[in-house]
Amino acid sequence: RALRIAVIPGDGIGQEVMPEGLACLRAAAARFNLDIELDEQFKDWATCDRYLRTGSMLPEGWKETLAPYDAIYFGAVGMPNLVPDHISLWGSLIQFRREFDQYISLRPCRLMPGIACPLANKKVGDIDFWVVRENTEGEYSSIGGKMFPGTDREVVIQETVMSRIGVDRVLKYAFDLAQSRPKKHLTSATKSNGISITMPYWDERCAEMAKGYQDVSVDKYHIDILTAWFVLRPELFDVVVGSNLFGDILSDLGPACTGSIGVAPSGNINPEGTWPSLFEPVHGSAPDIAGKGIANPVGMIWAGQMMLEHFGYKEAADIMMKAIETALESGGSQVITPDLGGAGTCQSLGGHIANLINKL
Ligand code: NAI
Ligand code: MG
Repeated sequence: RALRIAVIPGDGIGQEVMPEGLACLRAAAARFNLDIELDEQFKDWATCDRYLRTGSMLPEGWKETLAPYDAIYFGAVGMPNLVPDHISLWGSLIQFRREFDQYISLRPCRLMPGIACPLANKKVGDIDFWVVRENTEGEYSSIGGKMFPGTDREVVIQETVMSRIGVDRVLKYAFDLAQSRPKKHLTSATKSNGISITMPYWDERCAEMAKGYQDVSVDKYHIDILTAWFVLRPELFDVVVGSNLFGDILSDLGPACTGSIGVAPSGNINPEGTWPSLFEPVHGSAPDIAGKGIANPVGMIWAGQMMLEHFGYKEAADIMMKAIETALESGGSQVITPDLGGAGTCQSLGGHIANLINKL
């Protein structure tokens, strides 16, 4: 059966990088004879234009329409001058994440050729790990409240929620990922020395899960020193798993340490495939450069690569990765986009990568 992908470019540079991402996916599909349907009927979904025209970011019935797809390939959303971000994001991307129970947020932290690493003395190969973030519960609950507002007795409370199912399922995903990698190493982010109920529970579930993965080596660090190790000794890591808050911090810090926050991808994953997963670049709609044709398409293309990898098309995913690396390393200044110091365009870099996918 064909892999069915709903293509949602969204706003700003999402619309510019998406065609490059699609061209690369099509090149990979053609070369490896993959049966992938890229459905482009959603061009005005999750756009601020649509919101201004109709009063909502998504049409009614969006959930039923998207539910049968295997994945959503998503560009970016947001036109902050026209529509407040909380409306555009909460009316689209956040709906997808919640309604489709995308309880894993997955980001690679990999030092790529051709990208200046902000850490000293690191070479390609030194930094190569994944951050796995719990994406549905934990610190980001809406349980709590404000008492005695406006008085000097004012109190605010927000509870952390950790369910056994919620904690176990993200740990299982992370352990499976670690087991699939050569190093087979997992690091758990904790803070059980300070947060005395939920974090010891996290540790306990992690130790329990580890019993089922004898071949995976496990360590844990408190989040404060863990952030320091990300910067000082990133080669320690292979798969790093964290709660919603800790994972949020680590999944920005990790790519930032490789200088690749502008080109990195992200997966919002429902591992069972009950609902579609969503693959997107980390960056937003970049209104400051939208319409100029100079957006770097690598984040979008890499997100497509992650999507193929997620669905088990390993050969195609490997070639896409190699094409991205080769283009960044030796594409040349006429091909590389201005954010990486070149004089190329979104199309020159995207087209170059698509060509490499055909012939590497
Ligand atoms: P942004 O990621 O859109 O831009 C930050 C800076 O990085 C800008 O200077 C931009 O030009 C540059 N940049 C980003 N992607 C680039 C690329 N592919 N090539 C070259 N340069 C690139 O973040 P910002 O400015 O905070 O947000 C702009 C809008 O995007 C807002 O409406 C925000 O809510 C939305 N946003 C959406 C996200 C999503 O759809 N997942 C994620 C982050 C922001
Ligand atoms: Mg974040």
